[in-house]
Amino acid sequence: MTFISQKEINEIRSNASIVDIISSYIPLSQKGKNYFGVCPFHEDHSPSMSVSDEKQIYKCFSCGATGNVFTFVENYLNISFSEAVEMVAQKIGISIHVNTPLKQETKYKEEYTIMDLSLKFYQNNLNTYRGEKAISYLKERNLTLDTIKDFSIGLSLDKDMLYTFLSKKGYKDKLLQDLGLIQISDDKAYDVFQNRIMFPIHNLEGRVVGYTARCYFTEITPKYLNTRETYLFKKGTILFNYHRAKEAIHFSKVVILVEGNMDAIRLYSVGIKNVVALMGTSLTKDQIEALKKLRAKIILMLDNDNAGETASFMIGNTLEENHLSFEVVRLNGAKDPDSYVVEFGADAILENIKNAISFTDFKLKYLKKDKNLNDANDLAEYVKEVIASLKNMDDAILKEVTLQKLANDYNISYTILKEELGNKEEKHKKQVFKEEKTENTIKKSSYEKICEKILFYMMHSPGFIKLYQTQLGIFPTKEHRLIANEILYYYEINKTINLADFITYIETTTCKAEVMSILKNEEEKPVTEEAMKELLHKLKKMIKEQEIEKLKQELSQEFDENRKTILAEKILEIKGSVADENYQNV
Ligand code: UTP
Ligand code: MN
Repeated sequence: MTFISQKEINEIRSNASIVDIISSYIPLSQKGKNYFGVCPFHEDHSPSMSVSDEKQIYKCFSCGATGNVFTFVENYLNISFSEAVEMVAQKIGISIHVNTPLKQETKYKEEYTIMDLSLKFYQNNLNTYRGEKAISYLKERNLTLDTIKDFSIGLSLDKDMLYTFLSKKGYKDKLLQDLGLIQISDDKAYDVFQNRIMFPIHNLEGRVVGYTARCYFTEITPKYLNTRETYLFKKGTILFNYHRAKEAIHFSKVVILVEGNMDAIRLYSVGIKNVVALMGTSLTKDQIEALKKLRAKIILMLDNDNAGETASFMIGNTLEENHLSFEVVRLNGAKDPDSYVVEFGADAILENIKNAISFTDFKLKYLKKDKNLNDANDLAEYVKEVIASLKNMDDAILKEVTLQKLANDYNISYTILKEELGNKEEKHKKQVFKEEKTENTIKKSSYEKICEKILFYMMHSPGFIKLYQTQLGIFPTKEHRLIANEILYYYEINKTINLADFITYIETTTCKAEVMSILKNEEEKPVTEEAMKELLHKLKKMIKEQEIEKLKQELSQEFDENRKTILAEKILEIKGSVADENYQNV
């Protein structure tokens, strides 16, 4: 693994001309403001890829491939992100410092010392009278003092308390800012984390590199505030609890992969120590590499909601493509592994792990969702989806068994199924990009489409970020909220948004895949403030209508007259606010 600082990366990117670099690989010709070439990322002969000198990004109109200079080189040469950065640097004659992790450690000695000091500071706060409320919050969540100690949980205080503590020790503002601990505005320094419970995040080697900080006396957003990307903290390279879990994983040959830090903390604290957490929902290349190194079977145990189910499907596909051995657990009766253990105990969750199902079984069930298999159209769609999902599978025997089972269960000719799979595999090889695009567009609901459009425009202009904050405040869905949070972070730190740099930033986060898919699917069109307001308005209306639907359903199942009246009033109230807004918008 090589380390290049974010500052260096940005410097290289802004010094490299995307037109020069791309045209060193494929011929480009200028038409108006933009340059065009034959896209190398799908089978094509016409010049469908446009390269913008002004925006320093490329986009293919046909397959949707998009990104900045680094992603082009990365995908064109099939190399890692940091190798692509090195390659571009070399091409434009900038020499960069590439360090081995060992040298890195001595190089960043002072930085690590500061992180350790901040940890001590936060831990100490929790033990003073100021920590009483936080301690009772943690106890209420059934976390013991032992667990608090094991995970070095701490507490941040008001305004600039950490800053004062560290600057008294002689550390410079710039350094503290670069580590993501303080923020400077109007020449005054503030702590980035204030009045939050601090969960330190260690890198794979076990050094504290950042925090995830939870609000506790009131629910505010974001619920968890994470350290922004720094040269020590690269979210996409980290799996929470990896360094603590390594030994137990080695011993058991199993690693349990969960979604939230709290899930990992909970399992660990009840003695199930072979657990690591994704911090968000997608899986980066670096995290896959880290998992591979463990040489253990993965148990994928994500949240019990729809998002967790979809994530199991997506992450399962990624694991399968990377030839990792894994099984899936879907819990029943609690929202996530954390609350499952609190409610039913450690033995109950171990039983679930023992009964983990294969990814094929998971997919067979997952793809049945929302389908009526007595209906011919639904059944045909189901069978096709199952066959499509078999194309990445390594295990030829399992593939065969699944086909036969499908033929028997639904009384379909085995030969036709086999033929269909053959076609799919052929097509898959040829047209990976095109297929992905159409699959994505078909499955999206109009709600998702609006959210993605809003996010797309937020990535392009600070004005739209402000509109999001003032008009909407927050997305109700986790997957969209996480991306919006990343945009807000980026904007907060850089005070502006530049798409080419944002693409580099997003490389290292857990939402990379989602952001790239939004950039891929959205067309670049000039958007006015009015159009953006209209989108936000539509979304707000949709959210309210969903809420009304939910309440109506509750109402239809309610027998208590008093509760019925309350529900009906609520519905009227929301309906009224929708009408008001329509009126205002005329
Ligand atoms: P969850 O909402 O499932 O978190 O988000 P959790 O671990 O169950 O948290 P509790 O139980 O409410 O305390 C899963 C993960 O997504 C990231 C965090 O890493 C979290 O562990 N996340 C979530 C954020 O980074 N920011 C947020 O605002 C929310
Ligand atoms: Mn959770």
